[in-house]
Amino acid sequence: MNRMEKEYNDILNLDFDRENRIPLVTADSFVCTAFRSTEKLDGLWGFTPDVFRTFTRKRLGEVKTRDEQGRPVPVDLDFNSLLKAEVPGCWNCQEERLWYYEGEAVYSRSFYYEKENASERLFLKIGAANYESRIWLNGKLAARHKGGFTPFSVEITDLVRQENHLVITVNNRREMEQVPSMTYDWFNYGGITRSVELIRVPSRFIRVMEAALVPDKTFHNIRLRARLNEPEEGVYCRFVIEELGIDTTVQTDENGTAECILWASPQLWDCENPRLYHIEAWCGQPSVIEGEAAEAVGEKTGALIWEDYVEDYVGFREIRVQGKDIFLNGKKIYLRGVCCHEESRKGGRILSEEERMEIFHTAREMGCNILRLTHYPHSEQMALLADKMGMLLWEEIPVYWAIDFSNKDTYEDARNQLRELIVRDRNRASVVIWSVGNENPDTEERLQFMSGLAAVCREMDDTRLVSAACLVDVNTMSVKDRLIPYVDVVAFNEYYGWYYRDYEGLKEILDHTAIEKPVVISETGAGARAGHFGGREELFTEEHQERFYQKQIEYADGRIQGMFPWILYDFVSPIRMNPWQEGKNSKGLIAMDKTTKKKAFYIMQEYYQRKAGEEKE
Ligand code: GCU
Repeated sequence: MNRMEKEYNDILNLDFDRENRIPLVTADSFVCTAFRSTEKLDGLWGFTPDVFRTFTRKRLGEVKTRDEQGRPVPVDLDFNSLLKAEVPGCWNCQEERLWYYEGEAVYSRSFYYEKENASERLFLKIGAANYESRIWLNGKLAARHKGGFTPFSVEITDLVRQENHLVITVNNRREMEQVPSMTYDWFNYGGITRSVELIRVPSRFIRVMEAALVPDKTFHNIRLRARLNEPEEGVYCRFVIEELGIDTTVQTDENGTAECILWASPQLWDCENPRLYHIEAWCGQPSVIEGEAAEAVGEKTGALIWEDYVEDYVGFREIRVQGKDIFLNGKKIYLRGVCCHEESRKGGRILSEEERMEIFHTAREMGCNILRLTHYPHSEQMALLADKMGMLLWEEIPVYWAIDFSNKDTYEDARNQLRELIVRDRNRASVVIWSVGNENPDTEERLQFMSGLAAVCREMDDTRLVSAACLVDVNTMSVKDRLIPYVDVVAFNEYYGWYYRDYEGLKEILDHTAIEKPVVISETGAGARAGHFGGREELFTEEHQERFYQKQIEYADGRIQGMFPWILYDFVSPIRMNPWQEGKNSKGLIAMDKTTKKKAFYIMQEYYQRKAGEEKE
């Protein structure tokens, strides 16, 4: 197609996106990176909102700035004179004019690459981009991904050159068939919200490495598993956990997976003693290295040289339910929780390490032993930090409120987001609950959809509990949801004393609920504007919020196995437009400044101190 044909095609082609609807990248693309060395492409990128999707429509992946005779021609998108935007970042917070922008945007940058050896392969990893993103490298469309909160990778070995031009388009427009769908109670930040990294791997490499305690109540059986990038049989995989005296080599099966279960006596990971072990794994056909070759790579003569190496730091613990109770390492626990959105002080989805630490310190100060990371996968840094801090985590995917439950593409989207979350965080001891949804209408389609997601959790991971934040059944005033047989922990959200002004509703629900599984309150809360004081029956006063929690505790204590106040901090929400909230949800126990504690914070702190004391008795 010459330039003129292309120009006409651009103007006349209504379905210009058809050629760009390449197959979606999924969790199968995952490249094990927790502690693999990578090269970050973070920083200031060229950026422009692309309201009419000109970049895609005019195939501007590789801009022609000169015609066939070498004469300069006008361009619609001059990558060298774009605005600038931080990656990771949200455009809403970087450009006043873009606060409410929902649509497509174009990110662009160049990078230099030099192969380190002939067999090297190169992957590009995007930590998260909300919501649909496409990757163009040197003018070629390399990948397309859906889902705003989980990582994906694409191999670029055959597209990469020394000098490269990388373009990523991101579109955060809400769509009925997406997950989440059209309406939700948080802000729709758009952008490349987590790091972009280059990953160099050998031709044969470890795609996934898993280490966990077999949940068999012995606390002594450690399962180690490595899955290669290809289903190749007979490849050697070596696992070393030096502190446990483990050094074992197994070969892969026909699926390219090597697995072993070894008896050991690890110090168990828990909230008081978050013990992590250094796990190392190699793969390949090891060869003995001699003389100069050994010196060249800093090895001793005779050392075995492997093809690929990955490492991780893993805590060994067991979480299980029995009857109405939850057990961590065989000891009954009460989930002293709190809910938390991923939102920075200056707004946006990108938290600094200090802000993440602050969440853990504040939750610890409140007496929490678990955080419910609502309503979407938070940064993987949260789980890495929780592992170190000894804080349990409830992680979830944004199957939130009304979802197009009868749409198979929607199911595939939700399923893939869940798989990407599990593959990313499966070595994180702190993560004890996978949740497959929040406050969804109890319909037949929803039951099929979410019981299917619960099955995905069990297929992929037998070391964690499955839950979902359900609605109460207001006809029978009880916790009654057809999803209950498919979950380990029955969770329900209730707001008796706020949306329904009679606190007694909670007592009625608990009186009518008899389930032989642990039941937790996954959300309960009332709005209060920090510093606004008044009567305890007056909405939005701190006194009312304080009374609210006193009544929840009065009615629920002793009848549930955990509580998650909604929410730790006030947060931005476009659906909260009234004088008391002014575009934010003010149910936080702490104000937007993440510092000003409201009276209710101390009610929960006192309650959790009491529950912690009971556990020690
Ligand atoms: C629901 C929902 C939350 C929401 C909260 C509220 O329970 O799960 O996302 O913010 O109610 O009404 O404040």
